[in-house]
Amino acid sequence: MSRLQTRYLCQNCGYESLKWMGKCPECDSWDSFTEEVVLQEKASSSSKAGGARSAAGHRSIVPAGTGLPVPITQVEATAQERLLTRIGEFDRVLGGGIVPGGLILVGGDPGIGKSTLLTQVAAQISGGEGRAESSPLSVLYISGEESAQQVKLRSARLGAETPHFLIGVETEIGIILHHLETTRPALAIIDSIQTMFDSNLESAPGTVSQVRACATHLARFAKSTGVPIVLIGHVTKEGSLAGPRVLEHIVDTVLYFEGDRHHAYRLLRAAKNRFGSTDELGIFEMHEDGLLGVDNPSAVLLSERTEDGAGSAVASTLEGSRALLIEVQALVARSNLASPRRAVTGMDPNRVNMILAVLEKRIGLKLAEQDVFVNVAGGIRILEPASDLATALAIASNFREQPIHPTTILIGEVGLAGEVRAVSQIEKRLREAARQGFTRAIISKHNAGKLPKNLGLEVTGVANVNDALHAALLTPPRTS
Ligand code: TYD
Ligand code: MG
Repeated sequence: MSRLQTRYLCQNCGYESLKWMGKCPECDSWDSFTEEVVLQEKASSSSKAGGARSAAGHRSIVPAGTGLPVPITQVEATAQERLLTRIGEFDRVLGGGIVPGGLILVGGDPGIGKSTLLTQVAAQISGGEGRAESSPLSVLYISGEESAQQVKLRSARLGAETPHFLIGVETEIGIILHHLETTRPALAIIDSIQTMFDSNLESAPGTVSQVRACATHLARFAKSTGVPIVLIGHVTKEGSLAGPRVLEHIVDTVLYFEGDRHHAYRLLRAAKNRFGSTDELGIFEMHEDGLLGVDNPSAVLLSERTEDGAGSAVASTLEGSRALLIEVQALVARSNLASPRRAVTGMDPNRVNMILAVLEKRIGLKLAEQDVFVNVAGGIRILEPASDLATALAIASNFREQPIHPTTILIGEVGLAGEVRAVSQIEKRLREAARQGFTRAIISKHNAGKLPKNLGLEVTGVANVNDALHAALLTPPRTS
């Protein structure tokens, strides 16, 4: 027995409510509730839907050998062979390729390049080019947004025209499952999950209940057959489409494809990964003929730096297994506002406020009446405190109008007492700096003690920000 009921669901996070609300108590988004029809299974109905959990206790006969708990020592650890896409940046962010039966969500703003990236992945797998086993594998690309002709135009541009690349233009989940069942591809791509619908549900495609139902069906298929599936999802700040947050607990891996549409660079980050770390960062550049992995991101990120400017400092940060050099820029200007502006892009504003307080209190820089702008060049976002020292020195450098020695790298976390603290994996960070042509490094004295000799740059260990300032800043040219 089932009866129809309506509920209000937050389209951003899936929070359910009996009445309409202006603001979601779960994720704080405004005007995000939409009325949806939900199918309620009566609690007394025989174990169809809630079976596993509610009916288990009443079941008298358990089929032998199915799902019985076993000692962990008897569980066979089969090393699962991953499907390599041969797109290095993509494979690395995934933790070394695609795991059989994995469900991967690739989210991002419309137009950022999701379809492009996954078409290239499909091309690699179905093309056979350069594959070690040299046998092309079939890929099923389900498009709910574009016609087969449009997908073909893009594929032609990206070199994905192979007979193993199967296109299906379809939006009904039942039919898609049927296609999956009959083709059993090595990889399936659903573009996009928000256009798919389950005809058993009343609500419109893109709503929380539809997105969740379709993803659940696909997850079940992936788990039972071992066919990995990539779901493409649009991220929307507000509005009618269900946000990927609804899907985060259904899928194994969540990747975000981000970047500034006005820049050519695109970043791929893992927000959740059951099969690898979430620290890895993939960097791509959008070209006429698709996305290209960036081999030397540090060089790219530093390419537009003006070396003689006061207010520019370079830090060596770790993104997963890779060290990345980034430029922190600061501009300090006299304010005419009662409470001066603090504008930060690319890092945590609270962290910058803390650094400003340290500079004011421990070094005596009079920043209270100054507007301060801090920016990480290239549209990158830094989460690590290891870039604190670079931030502090970029601000001090611009305030005092004394440039930092151009080939000096700054690495260290800044504490409330103004002390420069040690960071992890200092050697890796220094090696990357040396590789990019840096000749001096200013780091915490606690890091400096245990370094090998042959790093290729001169290392100065400092105790606090004041010492770092003395070591890093150049005296300004005398103006007479
Ligand atoms: P697309 O992959 O369609 O974005 P999404 O699926 O995330 O909405 O690509 C978006 C943009 O990329 C589009 O404006 C055109 C551009 N583009 C290129 O610059 N080069 C290419 O080779 C391709 C296929 C697209
Ligand atoms: Mg698209």
